[in-house]
Amino acid sequence: MKLLVCGGAGFIGSTFVRQRLLEHGDGVTVLDKLTYAGREENLQDVADAPGFRFLRGAIEDREAVAEALDAGVGGGEIEAIVNFAAETHVDRSIADPDAFVRTHALGTHVLLEAARERGLRYLQVSTDEVYGSIAQGTFTEESPLRPSSPYSATKAGADLLVASYHRTYGLPATIVRGSNNYGPYQYPEKLIPLMILNAIHGDPLPVYGDGMQVRNWIHSTDFARAIGHVLEHGAPGEVYNAGGPDEEANIEVVRRIIALTGASEEQIEHVSDRPGHDVRYSLSSRKVRALGWAPRVRFAEGLADTVSWYRESSWWWRPIRSGDYRAYYERQYGRALS
Ligand code: NAD
Ligand code: TYD
Repeated sequence: MKLLVCGGAGFIGSTFVRQRLLEHGDGVTVLDKLTYAGREENLQDVADAPGFRFLRGAIEDREAVAEALDAGVGGGEIEAIVNFAAETHVDRSIADPDAFVRTHALGTHVLLEAARERGLRYLQVSTDEVYGSIAQGTFTEESPLRPSSPYSATKAGADLLVASYHRTYGLPATIVRGSNNYGPYQYPEKLIPLMILNAIHGDPLPVYGDGMQVRNWIHSTDFARAIGHVLEHGAPGEVYNAGGPDEEANIEVVRRIIALTGASEEQIEHVSDRPGHDVRYSLSSRKVRALGWAPRVRFAEGLADTVSWYRESSWWWRPIRSGDYRAYYERQYGRALS
């Protein structure tokens, strides 16, 4: 396939791009704004791969999108747009929602119009957070959307716009909703990389509230494969949930990281809870499993590999941990990193 991958320089997008280039021989153009979370370093191992092209630009910029599509990729015209581009951190959406509205509402609209004009397939990457919190049981694709944060509300809005382009204009669009991802290249504002790097550096491990909130963990390589699988086998107009095989309370995740890094339980610090904090996410993947996808990585093994990757990849995180992230951390946690 010839793909335009928006947001392909981020955590999951770069994992997807690597798989499509190296395992499937696709042609891939990446269009990415390179926000604080997007980094060309995430793609440095495929920068010279045949059929790969990188363009810096925003999805809400019509001209940048048109330019990316007109140029084609790997000797052919682009057939599908896969949209990962997003602002992705709930805490940042609480502090400053503007960019979330711009990218998720306006950006998704520009991409949908471009797909409609050119007759392209469209895949929207979305999240289980659009369903809100679930105390017991598990969300299916039929569950109502009850987002809690500006992040998840604007993601839900984007999903509804995508669905309307299928119903109204017949655009061949699909939506894939993932549960919490973890793995290499994840920006350290998120729970798992934040705790790994703080554990290694002897910094406090800031647990929100009692730490009993539960997340449904999926390795980023499994989620990226689910997206590729839906692109190949999914039906237009459908939503597919892709959840990980394991659920765990945050405090247990932190304890595992302490054991894997040799840090101390005394580093755990319970801090103020997140406003509107969702207590539990849980996603049924029955529909995408029926298409032939299944997750391969269990949490215990994937987390150990992820800890090893961060230990060995100071080239990747050192510029982040010594850059703007320090100021973000001080604003968010009211203390400096070591
Ligand atoms: P990330 O924050 O690591 O990367 C986002 C990427 O999008 C960055 O490269 C950034 O530069 C780019 N971007 C942001 N705004 C842009 C814009 N306006 N135009 C072009 N590029 C822009 O995010 P991630 O964790 O890789 O998430 C990717 C997608 O997967 C998002 O849509 C997210 O909602 C979804 N998702 C994430 C998770 C998770 O646990 N991380 C779970 C389920 C779904
Ligand atoms: P996060 O990685 O931000 O993902 P999301 O909010 O999208 O699920 O957070 C995962 C869980 O970890 C969530 O319940 C909030 C919690 N958390 C902490 O307890 N401390 C932290 O410093 C962070 C970043 C998250």
